[in-house]
Amino acid sequence: MRMTYASRWWRRPWIFPFGALVVIFLAFSLPPYLSFDPVRSRVPQPAALGVAHYWTLVPHVFFGSVALSTAVVQIWPWFRRRFPVAHRRIGRVYVFGGVLPAGAAALVVGSFTPYGPVTRASDVILAVLWLTCTVTGWRMARRHRYADHRRWMIRSFTLTASIITNRIWGAVFGIALAPQIDTTFHGDVDLFTWVVSSGAAWLGWTIPLLICEWWLNRDRSPARRRAVAARLAADAPSGPGESATSDRDYAPAGRDAQASG
Ligand code: HEM
Repeated sequence: MRMTYASRWWRRPWIFPFGALVVIFLAFSLPPYLSFDPVRSRVPQPAALGVAHYWTLVPHVFFGSVALSTAVVQIWPWFRRRFPVAHRRIGRVYVFGGVLPAGAAALVVGSFTPYGPVTRASDVILAVLWLTCTVTGWRMARRHRYADHRRWMIRSFTLTASIITNRIWGAVFGIALAPQIDTTFHGDVDLFTWVVSSGAAWLGWTIPLLICEWWLNRDRSPARRRAVAARLAADAPSGPGESATSDRDYAPAGRDAQASG
């Protein structure tokens, strides 16, 4: 295997803090749902759905955890280049065992969220975007359009990881606005919860997606195009048993990379 800049694992140090963040997020988020006891849910049951809400939320949380954990590995350039066959297999788990079921469940729980119409709008739009970016990324890989695959999967990854920024905004708004419950919110705790949730829901994914689009558009400059083309070329497996033709998950950077990278 060629040693390129990105094929050295220590050259992408952001992967370790990001992986640690995912572990911390899951360690905090999963436990209430491991008991399968609706009383321990952190989300109140909306009357319109009753207990069905909980039994949609639990699969959402479990499949969402699969999406988040596999996303860490999939986005890591060193892993992609070192283990291209595993990248393809884990990619299928990410799409079919993570995002698709978690996103479908999110559409349901999001449509009946107890946190008000502003959160509802954000939840539904995010779920649709999450499913769309992921399915498009998968279809691009199937068609061997790897530069487009890369762009759509970076968007999908950004939306998957936005669940973490959502929780950070929730904590920021909660701490900042809690002293005003009795004044600005006239003691209405439900209104306070709606406002905190709405702010966290919208800022949680719109800011990362805007940064992602800005970052992807940097690719359009000639210098970035050349860099991306070189990276996609490095993605083409070269070791024994990793033939780009037998393992159709990778294509050399050619027309595809230069056309849209
Ligand atoms: C990116 C698309 C996602 C959407 C649209 C979404 C949507 C939702 C919705 C609507 C709820 C119920 C709360 C509410 O009514 O607002 C919820 C709860 C939850 N989601 Fe997601 N979600 C997404 C991604 C994820 C991911 C990747 C995870 C990773 C584990 C996750 C974990 C959770 C957890 C743990 C809860 C329960 C609330 C809590 O205990 O903090 N979600 N999600």
